[in-house]
Amino acid sequence: MENNLNLEQASKHIAENLPLTQESIDKFRENRQQIDTMMSRYKCAIMEVETKFKVLNEQFSLQYDRNPIESIKSRLKSIDSILEKVQRKNIRLSMEAVEANLNDIAGVRVICSFRNDIYDLAKYFLNQDDVRLIEIKDYIKRPKDGGYRSLHLIVEVPIFLQNEKRNMKVEVQLRTIAMDFWASLEHKLRYKKEINPDDAIELAKDLKECADTSMLLDLRMEEIKNRINHSAKKED
Ligand code: GTP
Ligand code: MG
Repeated sequence: MENNLNLEQASKHIAENLPLTQESIDKFRENRQQIDTMMSRYKCAIMEVETKFKVLNEQFSLQYDRNPIESIKSRLKSIDSILEKVQRKNIRLSMEAVEANLNDIAGVRVICSFRNDIYDLAKYFLNQDDVRLIEIKDYIKRPKDGGYRSLHLIVEVPIFLQNEKRNMKVEVQLRTIAMDFWASLEHKLRYKKEINPDDAIELAKDLKECADTSMLLDLRMEEIKNRINHSAKKED
């Protein structure tokens, strides 16, 4: 049975200034509990995925004496953003439809030192037998027109609750520090701002140039890393 959130009914009550009946209050409580349960499950899925990357980082650091992960930033999509996306994508307002159609309620961003680390971590993560890959988007090999780079994975991981196991979707974004620097600033500059069309082309061009610079920086740092490794080997 599908659990309808029934927000429409609630908002109608409010809009028409109708007195709330016990039935509608109960319905509201029930809906809220369902939303809390769903969000809490996504939070658990974030914890699972974070732990998997932390374990890989630990192992890697033992083996190679360095940490491939600089930092991990996770976020749970806000209810407002979920509702906005549900509306924009014309998704039915039910738990099942939301879970089936939104891939990014749980988001984990893994910031790495080098591009190689991204692909190594992604490979070891996806090799785990409880991680199911749903979709991969490689915006590093094929950056977006605006210059955005990152490796995106949509995966499903199980979470173990008291009496059941549930598979939850998580969006994982893997980036280098330089990619994250660019994406974070670009997002901050652009987010929810009405840009004058006269300035838009010039701004997009400048942002793209910065993205190219960040890509060159990644390449140069990789080259320096390789030279240092090479030179250190000679000394051994
Ligand atoms: P959404 O429906 O918006 O989540 O996008 P999508 O399903 O087309 O997926 P896509 O992989 O393109 O983007 C998902 C996420 O990647 C976004 O929510 C952002 O966090 C990030 N992202 C994608 N493109 C850009 C970009 O041009 N700039 C920045 N800063 N972030 C981006
Ligand atoms: Mg998104």
